[in-house]
Amino acid sequence: MVDLQARIKAGIRDVPDFPKDGILFKDISTLLLQPALANAILDGLAAQYRDVGIDAIAGIESRGFLFGNALALRLEKPFVLIRKAGKLPAEKITRSYELEYGVAAIEMHRDAVQPGQRVLVHDDLLATGGSAEAAALLLQDAGAHVAGFSFLVELGFLAGRQRLAPIQTDIRSLAA
Ligand code: PRP
Ligand code: MG
Repeated sequence: MVDLQARIKAGIRDVPDFPKDGILFKDISTLLLQPALANAILDGLAAQYRDVGIDAIAGIESRGFLFGNALALRLEKPFVLIRKAGKLPAEKITRSYELEYGVAAIEMHRDAVQPGQRVLVHDDLLATGGSAEAAALLLQDAGAHVAGFSFLVELGFLAGRQRLAPIQTDIRSLAA
């Protein structure tokens, strides 16, 4: 039985020079084409957080929705949408941030979390940490406590962990 980390690394498709030259794109869509592997990933995520005290899971659009909502359903916790700017209809709060390749803004409904709630931030990939940091700051703006960061994969050479550590040092990934 090959371990989960090796299966994830083998299952992700690396695409050179997308969306621009010099970027090696980590394409997790290939994981979703393998339901047995996707289920094993969800089992692995659930095992990491089953005994951790969290009240809700926030997923970052779009790839953070794929396993984030599945994890929330598995753990029977609310799922909070962190969306790209301009998509949410109700009263919202916004943060701008820098991506590995560009600038972006994300938003959250102000009433999606309650003050004091312990919220886990989930995304597919930790690269520079800009997306997860902005998501965490949004949650803090809404009065929530960031209980941890969850990723499928982290790219260690981009030092995302160091960027997130001032917010929360409980940073877990299934593959590095
Ligand atoms: C990618 C990836 C993470 C983020 C990681 O998302 O899915 O969300 O970048 O990079 P960072 O740690 O440097 O912020 P992207 O913004 O490309 O959008 P997508 O999820 O909609 O594909
Ligand atoms: Mg993303």
